[in-house]
Amino acid sequence: MTEAGLVVEGLRVTLGGREILHGVDFAVAPGRVVGLVGESGSGKTTIARAVAGFVSSRGSIRLDGTELGGDRRHRTVRRSIQLVPQDPYTTLNPRLRIGRVLEELLGLHRLPPGGGRTARRARAVALMEQVGLDAAALQRRPSQFSGGQRQRVALARALAVEPRVLLADEPTSSLDVSVQRTVLDLVAGLSRDAGVATLLITHDLSVVHAVCDEVVVLRAGEVVETAPADRFFTAPAHPYSRRLLAAVPRLEASP
Ligand SMILES: Nc1ncnc2c1ncn2[C@@H]1O[C@H](COP(=O)(O)OP(=O)(O)O)[C@@H](O)[C@H]1O
Ligand SMILES: [Mg+2]
Repeated sequence: MTEAGLVVEGLRVTLGGREILHGVDFAVAPGRVVGLVGESGSGKTTIARAVAGFVSSRGSIRLDGTELGGDRRHRTVRRSIQLVPQDPYTTLNPRLRIGRVLEELLGLHRLPPGGGRTARRARAVALMEQVGLDAAALQRRPSQFSGGQRQRVALARALAVEPRVLLADEPTSSLDVSVQRTVLDLVAGLSRDAGVATLLITHDLSVVHAVCDEVVVLRAGEVVETAPADRFFTAPAHPYSRRLLAAVPRLEASP
């Protein structure tokens, strides 16, 4: 049987002469949302950057059974793993209308296959609708959206290239709590619908409780527990997991 989705084994990363990740293992199957949790500084962002190919690593990173290795220059490999940033302001060009951003991106990747300008425009409209915005949003620039809408735009941009893996690094930490949940539900819903393997990085266990299928607990560059979300919240196996849960009184009380 072909191994589907993202599989990471023995991932080691050294930054500034210090080993940050000490052999990390986890997997994300297509259509699943896995929460990566751990205290600040435990190495969560470094995992995302290594999987996306932004920092060099040792160990194995496989996508649908294919070893990705260090060579991410190839467009199809780069395209298949998309990072949704914490603050979309850092990746969206403030001068460009969103419609132009999406159409250029689709053109670059020759999507939809065999389609021309009209097909790209139609795809851009469909993407807006998928993330709960309307076609008029394509005429706007990043600054003309609210924070929550900008995260929807960032999600549309990531999904535009039909990735196999979505890495969302604290995607809503800059938003109001009320908006956060809506955006996270959207991330999870669209990932499941599109069969995308999604790694949702957060230090917020209530986020994991709300939207994730599985939990990977990272402590100081090592995975201490991997569990289905329901088991993690009812019977966490590792003392560190129990400590993390105990710090969230509302969740500790839930069945
Ligand atoms: N470019 C870098 N050079 C040296 N150390 C780094 C670099 N980036 C991150 N680190 C260190 O790696 C550790 C993990 O950081 P990070 O992956 O950002 O953790 P998290 O996302 O869980 O907060 C921290 O101790 C951080 O200081
Ligand atoms: Mg981080």
